[in-house]
Amino acid sequence: MRTIFILLGFFHIWVTLKLTYNEAIVFKFTNAVCESYNESWFVYHKCRLKAVSRNKTTLNLNGTVLHPAYDIGLHAQIFKKANGYKPWVVKAELDICRFVKRAYNPVAKIVFNLFKEFSNFNHSCPYVGPQIVNGFYLRSNYLPHSIPTGDYLLSMTWLFDKRPQFSTKIYFIFTEDL
Ligand SMILES: *[C@@H]1O[C@H](CO)[C@@H](O)[C@H](O)[C@H]1NC(C)=O
Ligand SMILES: *[C@@H]1O[C@H](CO)[C@@H](O)[C@H](O)[C@H]1NC(C)=O
Ligand SMILES: *[C@@H]1O[C@H](CO)[C@@H](O)[C@H](O)[C@H]1NC(C)=O
Ligand SMILES: *[C@@H]1O[C@H](CO)[C@@H](O)[C@H](O)[C@H]1NC(C)=O
Repeated sequence: MRTIFILLGFFHIWVTLKLTYNEAIVFKFTNAVCESYNESWFVYHKCRLKAVSRNKTTLNLNGTVLHPAYDIGLHAQIFKKANGYKPWVVKAELDICRFVKRAYNPVAKIVFNLFKEFSNFNHSCPYVGPQIVNGFYLRSNYLPHSIPTGDYLLSMTWLFDKRPQFSTKIYFIFTEDL
């Protein structure tokens, strides 16, 4: 579990250095790529970005867990683009069932709070049926001031019973126009 603290440290900076609204900052999704490795357990119906305005792009996901999942793991890693995407923070691992029961890491809780209003993810295990993220966008009042301008990829692999079932790759940009 030590690796998660590195990723969460990043989010900690993100939330503690909460900036006042700055129109010159662009922080938004640029692409989303979803893949199921086991369509007898998880299927995607939708994985799409929608450009709402110049500085706002929403992420919309719809998938179905076909059989109840009681043991859910998340492997996450952030990459930064520089001649291809290079690992930018060390890989993190989270036990989702443990986390939703009791948000055991306060920083992960803050991150979850950022998007839970756009999803139906906040309930205890098992997870079964529709999994929805609707209209999620990156908000400028949570800007990661310490992040250099660039293109990023948040790569997530979801595991049921310790085996990879599907992945969600989310690309975003952070640009500070000084
Ligand atoms: C794929 O899903 C099926 C149905 O739920 C499950 O029985 C099987 O173990 C899964 N395969 C892997 C490799 O996880
Ligand atoms: C998600 O996709 C399923 C299957 O296509 C559909 O029945 C359902 O209405 C969709 N839900 C939302 C919220 O888009
Ligand atoms: C999930 O929602 C419940 C009720 O709104 C809330 O008490 C709980 O703290 C939430 N869990 C997380 C992990 O945010
Ligand atoms: C986008 O810019 C408009 C005004 O230019 C502002 O009202 C809005 O809050 C911004 N949205 C985001 C997500 O930063």
